[in-house]
Amino acid sequence: MSAKQKIQIPRGLKDVLPDEQKYWFWLENNFYSVASTAGFERIILPTFESTNLFKRSVGEFTDIVSKEMYVFKDKSGNSMALRPEGTASVVRAYIEHGMHTLPQPIKLFYWGPMFRYDRPQAGRFREFWQFGLEVLGDSNPLGDALLIQTVVKYHSKLGLKDVVVKINSLGTTKSRTKMISALTRFLSKHKKDLCANCQRRLKNNPLRVLDCKVSNCRSITEETGTVLIDNLDEVSKKRFTKVLEYLDDMQINYELDPSLVRGLDYYTHTLFEVVVRGHEDLAIGGGGRYDGLVKQLGGPDVSCIGYAGGVERTINALKKQAVDVPNMVQSDVFVIQLSAKAKIKSIKVIDDLDQVGLRVSSSMGSIQAQLREANKMNTPLAIIIGEQEVYDKNVILRDMEDRSQEIVLDRNLVKKVIKKLEEKGINVKILSHD
Ligand code: HAM
Repeated sequence: MSAKQKIQIPRGLKDVLPDEQKYWFWLENNFYSVASTAGFERIILPTFESTNLFKRSVGEFTDIVSKEMYVFKDKSGNSMALRPEGTASVVRAYIEHGMHTLPQPIKLFYWGPMFRYDRPQAGRFREFWQFGLEVLGDSNPLGDALLIQTVVKYHSKLGLKDVVVKINSLGTTKSRTKMISALTRFLSKHKKDLCANCQRRLKNNPLRVLDCKVSNCRSITEETGTVLIDNLDEVSKKRFTKVLEYLDDMQINYELDPSLVRGLDYYTHTLFEVVVRGHEDLAIGGGGRYDGLVKQLGGPDVSCIGYAGGVERTINALKKQAVDVPNMVQSDVFVIQLSAKAKIKSIKVIDDLDQVGLRVSSSMGSIQAQLREANKMNTPLAIIIGEQEVYDKNVILRDMEDRSQEIVLDRNLVKKVIKKLEEKGINVKILSHD
């Protein structure tokens, strides 16, 4: 490559530019608030782990592990993988830190990037972000409904409309095996009509055939009808009915989907996806129960359930619905300066306002550009400082709502700003001021 050739971002990755930040801030802030209110605590997990962790949890024959993982050898020759999802790491940490010995359930949330070497297209990236909730050490069907309720609450807090939860059950590990055998028997009859990928899946991961988008495969899978649910054992059926009853009590908008399967091997019992109804139903997240996973990874036999949503897909849905997302920085006052000397003075003014706990913003550029920025931020007040104001030891205080302006002496400025904000009913937390 010549030294002059431009280096571009790798395929499937993206930069999140300043204009996009308000969406990210909106999702992250609301997620922390909804998760904490529901009793979840934050966990920060590594972005790469031993490759075996994902092979033994997500499943060796899943697309995620067999095709989409970024795997590399570290300098000691150990095989490592960039995490394609968060549940496996949460379970590893739960076992490793003896969290099963604490009062159960353990409720954890995370927010971070995941990596899958997927074919890039709309809503599909190779590095994408997930927000996740995991409840470990609880088998009560009420726990399933409560988790789903938290997820629904979060989406409604974001302002998303037409959110539907698609739900299904795979039953116990035993009934899941029975369902897979029944499905395999059914699909084997149509093997020659399946696409090459599905012929392979039929052997390694038959549930995934139900997800195939190829039209031939679709017309076959549409015929599967109730193969899965018919093979659900009685105990699992009863459990699932209980979950649905709780969801009814909570007035959650759900829809039974007997062909819903998910691309990860660890699921048992309740499976669900959050879909935004629209021109094309868009799945923005998914989750389910994973009762065998802790044991499978060397821990005790405990039941768990979790959910992860995609940040980019949720933002996309907010944009499609033109949800009015507030600006990230909520400022009380915006300081505009019009010359080099005014800039120096503005630093002192910003400092004085900041010292008493006011939220202050400023930017560079022409007066128009700075006013535009102040308008964009929705600040109730602006302070304008020109050359004249430097000499006169005062500033112009502008009310951004009614556009009235007045001259205020430097020494009275902080008091005046506080008074103006209070008159506007804006609750300011003043640290100390005499
Ligand atoms: P998942 O369905 O593989 O589940 O991923 C959850 C969400 O991550 C998807 O619904 C989607 O919004 C987002 N996502 C997945 N792949 C991509 C991609 N290539 N580009 C953009 N967004 C993507 C899990 O990961 C499970 N760990 C969920 C879970 C938690 N189950 C139990 N606990």
